[in-house]
Amino acid sequence: MFPYPSFTGISDQDALAIKAYLFQLAPVRQANRPHDVSFPLSWRFLQSGWKLLYFTKGPFHPNPQWDAATNRGAYLVTSLGHCGECHTPRNPAGAMRRKAWLAGNLDGPDAELVPNLTPDQKTGIGEWDEGDITELLKTGATPSEAKVKGSMREVVADGTRFLTDDDRLAIATYLKAQKPIANTISAAARDARPWYQRLWEWVMSLIGLA
Ligand code: HEC
Repeated sequence: MFPYPSFTGISDQDALAIKAYLFQLAPVRQANRPHDVSFPLSWRFLQSGWKLLYFTKGPFHPNPQWDAATNRGAYLVTSLGHCGECHTPRNPAGAMRRKAWLAGNLDGPDAELVPNLTPDQKTGIGEWDEGDITELLKTGATPSEAKVKGSMREVVADGTRFLTDDDRLAIATYLKAQKPIANTISAAARDARPWYQRLWEWVMSLIGLA
């Protein structure tokens, strides 16, 4: 899915820079894939309802109560880096649950478990300091010396390792400034969900909403 609910926050200046980069690449002749939005959102008029309920148009607005670095981190996490698209749980209609912003996702893309990034001591990354976070974004190494796996490996390899040190620190500062939310992300927690919740999710996935 194209994460436009996040990309809407990208500044005009950055969007134009992305366009300039794409347009100087060597052209490749290859037919585009058709759109594959699944039913029922393939009915365009339903998308307008979805947008009305869940979409807030950008650009990103800095929070006047935060300093420049925290706001820079907020911009990178919410918009350009679209970290919330994987790290935030979704409601049955497939929209990010804003009240559980960055609190981890038991049903990440490709059935991945996506960790809780809020500073909760037990279930989030409350034990990590800013240096631990910037190190992961630079090299993929976690404080336990393990390397991140799955799609996060790609996020680091194709994305965050190219950021400046200041931008990685800004992301860490913003993450540490979040409200801690207790949400255990593990295979056991995923399997322990009550039957009615799983049934609901199953029905939703059947009609293409989850
Ligand atoms: C495409 C999905 C995806 C996106 C986008 C994404 N992540 Fe992740 N992230 C993951 C997954 C999956 C893991 C778990 C990796 C593992 O199990 O080793 C993870 C792990 C992490 C961890 C380690 C947490 C822990 O407890 O081990 C941090 C920190 C993190 N991501 C930060 C970010 C930041 C910051 C961004 C945005 C710049 C981001 N991620 C964007 C999928 C994603």
